[in-house]
Amino acid sequence: MTARLNRVLAFTNAAREPIAVLVIVSIAIVQLSLLQQPLAPIMVSILLFYRGVNAVLGVHSSWQTVIAQAGSIEVVRDEFARLADEAEPNGRTVIGPLRDGIEFRDVCFAYDERIGDVLDAVSFVIPANAIVAIVGASGAGKSTLIDLLTLLLQPRAGQLLIDGIPGIQIEKSSWRRQIGYVLQEAVIFDDSFANNICLWSGDPDADLALMARIRLAAQSAHLLGYIDSLPNGFRTRVGDRGIRLSGGQRQRLFIARELFKEPSLLILDEATSSLDSEAERVIQQSIDDLRGRMTVVIIAHRLATVRSADQVLVFDQGRLVEQGDYVSLRDQPGSRFGAMVAAQSL
Ligand SMILES: Nc1ncnc2c1ncn2[C@@H]1O[C@H](COP(=O)(O)OP(=O)(O)OP(=O)(O)O)[C@@H](O)[C@H]1O
Ligand SMILES: [Mg+2]
Repeated sequence: MTARLNRVLAFTNAAREPIAVLVIVSIAIVQLSLLQQPLAPIMVSILLFYRGVNAVLGVHSSWQTVIAQAGSIEVVRDEFARLADEAEPNGRTVIGPLRDGIEFRDVCFAYDERIGDVLDAVSFVIPANAIVAIVGASGAGKSTLIDLLTLLLQPRAGQLLIDGIPGIQIEKSSWRRQIGYVLQEAVIFDDSFANNICLWSGDPDADLALMARIRLAAQSAHLLGYIDSLPNGFRTRVGDRGIRLSGGQRQRLFIARELFKEPSLLILDEATSSLDSEAERVIQQSIDDLRGRMTVVIIAHRLATVRSADQVLVFDQGRLVEQGDYVSLRDQPGSRFGAMVAAQSL
């Protein structure tokens, strides 16, 4: 295609001059010998004519250039159209820090309608600044619930309301800015503690306000005492070429990183499942300290971490089966949660 285009282009360019000369010479001959005109006006009109011919031939070569470029432009245009088609639907309402709470109202969700609902008519409320625990067997739908909460997924039926605003109307990035999300498989960067917490949002050595925020985050995550006990403090390298952290210290570093963003909702998914009970206790302590400062949603297999939750939601095969505070749910005769706690012999 390109070869053919170039051949045509070369031909037009090469033919332009001879064609012009041919035309001019024949006009001169006609004017001089047949019409017996003087030479001077002929020269002027030939000059004008030559420029005219050139412009006309120029149109042709421009057109060829257009054809040569059009293909790539079309590819880009199609690609943009495809991106727009697959973009996440987004709402318009910009949301600030959580004030009232989050409500799931008869929410149903299915990954595949043929297989059936993964969440089945789930209704509950997470009040702002409460600590809510979500427990249930593997596959009960806990992570799916979190994906709905972060607006990654949309309910098939029912509604998710954040401060009374339906999820679909919310501008997603404004909501996600409010969320800190601690996952088990988060990464530690081969850099200082300070940079691992603030993620290079400035120079912690020069910026005192930034350093104060980093220290506060570390303190809330119960990591400050440990870091300050190191000879290089927050400049200590962690990661591949730095010191190795224990599982509990890693978790607390991830929590500190999320707290640094000052979220109004902190989500912890299975954050403590691989920890020993002492490490777990420290994390439970740091979650406790957040009480009243932000909303916390914890998913835990290990029930010890959710002792201090204001509310425990027990899920089974996509249904919310029990709901209440830790102690009353545990002591309720015949409760599923009581059996789960007994099984973990707490
Ligand atoms: N992307 C997906 N596509 C199809 N089905 C999915 C998808 N993700 C999860 N599921 C199904 O949805 C159900 C709930 O999964 P979910 O991940 O929410 O469970 P969970 O409670 O978080 O489990 P775990 O405690 O093991 O993390 C499961 O039956 C699972 O097979
Ligand atoms: Mg899960």
